[in-house]
Amino acid sequence: MPKWLGNAVFYEIYPQSFYDSNGDGIGDIEGIIQKLDYVKELGCNALWLNPCFDSPFKDAGYDVRDYKKVAPRYGSNEDLFRLFDEVHKRNMRVLLDLVPGHTSEEHPWFAESKKAYSCGEFKNRYIWTDSWFFWGLEGLKFIAGETERDGCYIVNFFKSQPALNYGFHECREKWQLPPEHPDCIATREALKDIMRFWLLGDKGRGCDGFRVDMADSLVKFDDAQKSATSAIWRNIREMLDSEFPEAAIVSEWSSPPQSIKAGFHADFLLDHGNSGYRSLVRDYKNGGEDNSYFKKDGNGGIAKFLDQYMPWYEATKNDGFISMISGNHDTPRISHRLSPREMSLFFAMQFTMPGVPFLYYGDEIGMRYLYRTHTKEGGYDRTGSRTPMQWNSGANAGFSCAAPEKLYLPVDTESGAPDVESQEKDPQSLINMVKDLLRLRSSNEELGSKPNFEILHSGIQGDRSFFYRRGSFIMGLNPCVNAVQVQISVQKTPEPVYSIGGCGTEKGIFKLEPQSFGMWKC
Ligand code: GLC
Ligand code: CA
Repeated sequence: MPKWLGNAVFYEIYPQSFYDSNGDGIGDIEGIIQKLDYVKELGCNALWLNPCFDSPFKDAGYDVRDYKKVAPRYGSNEDLFRLFDEVHKRNMRVLLDLVPGHTSEEHPWFAESKKAYSCGEFKNRYIWTDSWFFWGLEGLKFIAGETERDGCYIVNFFKSQPALNYGFHECREKWQLPPEHPDCIATREALKDIMRFWLLGDKGRGCDGFRVDMADSLVKFDDAQKSATSAIWRNIREMLDSEFPEAAIVSEWSSPPQSIKAGFHADFLLDHGNSGYRSLVRDYKNGGEDNSYFKKDGNGGIAKFLDQYMPWYEATKNDGFISMISGNHDTPRISHRLSPREMSLFFAMQFTMPGVPFLYYGDEIGMRYLYRTHTKEGGYDRTGSRTPMQWNSGANAGFSCAAPEKLYLPVDTESGAPDVESQEKDPQSLINMVKDLLRLRSSNEELGSKPNFEILHSGIQGDRSFFYRRGSFIMGLNPCVNAVQVQISVQKTPEPVYSIGGCGTEKGIFKLEPQSFGMWKC
């Protein structure tokens, strides 16, 4: 386990929308370099960059055409190497986004693989049936009629993203290869080669690891435990442990008991299905009431979150980290359902939980989910969470000096659009609460990633408060409009450390004002 990861607080940057340094309307690597001090002052010491590689951008860069080349719109490989150096100079770290499951249909491997009578190295780099005449198989998406090769190929996501071939756990047809087949092993080795390329950089120290896209999806017809896919990741982890012991891999899997066993250092708690994350920030049905835990007038207690979190936490606490997110480039922004006060309480929890937290750019100021934004690069309803960062109240919110119609996506121009500069001046603003919370986290080891989490109280109905302990710290959250008083037995007199919205204690009774958070040392 790389030691730095245990002290990391990540900031996710969507490169096209963060900061445009050369006025062409699109964010770039130089722009990220110019804003590193901002990220550091906010209290984050690590970055995750969404894919910044050469791509036709049919899925915003998750369709990679050249894994070893920075997309010209963001700069050059030299710029990215310079970013690594600038990050490291500040004692920060950076994860790139690794897309192992599929490439762009424009990748040279696919160009070879799709040829009529394709043979040689790339023949089986993708998954092909042995005839164009094929109606598909349960759970897999096939494309027919697009290529000279007589066969259909599987895609993982959009039509433009053919799935790489890591084999089938259970082979039912002749064209399905087992994961041990040399051509499937070759795919795995090609992935390692890409990882080495960026980990080494130009001077022997490159990026610090990867966030891994759809990490659970490599081997098809895998069993419920994903054992064949896991075996590949364990093999890759062995390579990292021996060649790059300081590198970290974080999975998009959202099943920590599986992914951590598979060798990942951390896994996200995502918004898949009826997840614990959703129960915190957007547990609603269209037209119905909103029962999100952090909604002041919802009905949701914290139990729904804990029901998912606790078994995962118990199963993984000694081997890896659970990463709580504020949101990401695929989710609606948390501000979609939560008010600034509600968001501040969410952050109070996110940044005082064990594991390694990830903050999505712009959430620190409560950037809005612009759900009416016209779809861009396969974003659809995700596009509204990908708009330019709002730095100030000037032209284009300070994101770019291009003409507004040249911007990658339009900025939020409606009244009340938050921005960094204005919030920094206001001591009560969301960004300043985020800074306070991150300062508390980084200056007290007990509030960091450690597995020292204990539930003290989880209320229901009238009392929806949630109290938990981390070493000598006690945290209390009350998302509701009514005040609560909860008895918690403590050995020493609790000393107040921090609060949002007011709280107090008297003889073992903890009092939380409406919509408040308290932190005590005791
Ligand atoms: C992941 C990414 C998402 C992308 C998909 C396909 O879920 O987060 O943005 O569209 O994988 O690569
Ligand atoms: Ca630019």
